[in-house]
Amino acid sequence: MIQRNDVYKYKYFNFYYVYMKSTAVANANIALVKYWGKRDKELMLPQNSSISMTCDGMSTATTVEFGNYKKDIFVLDGREFKQGTEYNEVTGFLDIVRKKAEIKQKAKIVSQNNMPTAAGLASSASGFAALALASSKAAGLDLNEKELSMLARRGSGSASRSIGEGFVEWYRGEKPDGLDSYAESIAFKEHWPEFRMLAVVVSKKEKKIKSRAGMAQTVANCSLYPCWLNTIEDDLKIIRNGIKKKNFTQVGERSQLNCLKMHATMMSTTPPIIYWNPTTIEIMHSVIEWNENELESYFTVDAGPQVKIICLKKNVPEIEKRLKKISNIERVIECRPGDGAKLIHNHLF
Ligand code: DP6
Repeated sequence: MIQRNDVYKYKYFNFYYVYMKSTAVANANIALVKYWGKRDKELMLPQNSSISMTCDGMSTATTVEFGNYKKDIFVLDGREFKQGTEYNEVTGFLDIVRKKAEIKQKAKIVSQNNMPTAAGLASSASGFAALALASSKAAGLDLNEKELSMLARRGSGSASRSIGEGFVEWYRGEKPDGLDSYAESIAFKEHWPEFRMLAVVVSKKEKKIKSRAGMAQTVANCSLYPCWLNTIEDDLKIIRNGIKKKNFTQVGERSQLNCLKMHATMMSTTPPIIYWNPTTIEIMHSVIEWNENELESYFTVDAGPQVKIICLKKNVPEIEKRLKKISNIERVIECRPGDGAKLIHNHLF
């Protein structure tokens, strides 16, 4: 009877109970043009626009129930967080939702990732996208994709892009209130089903410097940062057009360049930020060599040691075979362009 995803009112002995439970699943996304730097930390407004692929196969499922709880309860991958950064980020996010929905109830949030958390596989993006959809629905809000993307952005910037399907652009926006800074799909997943990202996991350790701190330090003291911003519009144009025309070389080459530029900025901050480990670098060298020898592939790396290899479906078996010869690779996850965030019926509790 009480199985619905949305707000459900039922009458029982003349009292109205409000059933406020909802579950959503969202995929991670990997940026082809990276978001690196905020212009407003509170509203999570970026310094530059970015473009990503929503990755089928790396997802977070989240159930949120508002109810008779004394305080918010947050469980991620079976572990209850009672205090600390993660707990505060999640409860802070729910405060935004409670304010919008004009409700006061505390919530229980249970989340399950199918990828290593906080190791550069964008779990905060899928996490906050799923949380935005599940919590807004459970709170009785009915947000459209643009509004959901802006809400997810408040949890983690890149989460704004995990609301949309396929290839997604997050617009920097100009307004101080952030109402023009949202993400939308620029090509659906059927547009380019052969496009692949191979997420190569080289370490499951949590990263020492979260992207939030890394980008803040870069904006604050990197002398190369203005160069990064000056070349972004060109990267966006080249990659946006490359996706539209399905020009793989154009998208791959420019994504790899954009990734290296982002890392160049963070490496040249004080103190330097280097997310790569020796296996990361070995894979990068291999990809460059394969590419020179007719196995077209490119790499991109985020705020962690994992490498994502950009390639086409036809080359996946050969690339996987070659990766087997490299030591210290824990796992390879093949991702194709995936769905945007969705509500599902199976609650996690
Ligand atoms: C390198 O979205 O994790 O992955 O907004 O502070 O939560 P916050 O940062 P986050 O940063 C992602 C940085 C990146 C590049 C990208 O995904 O665009």
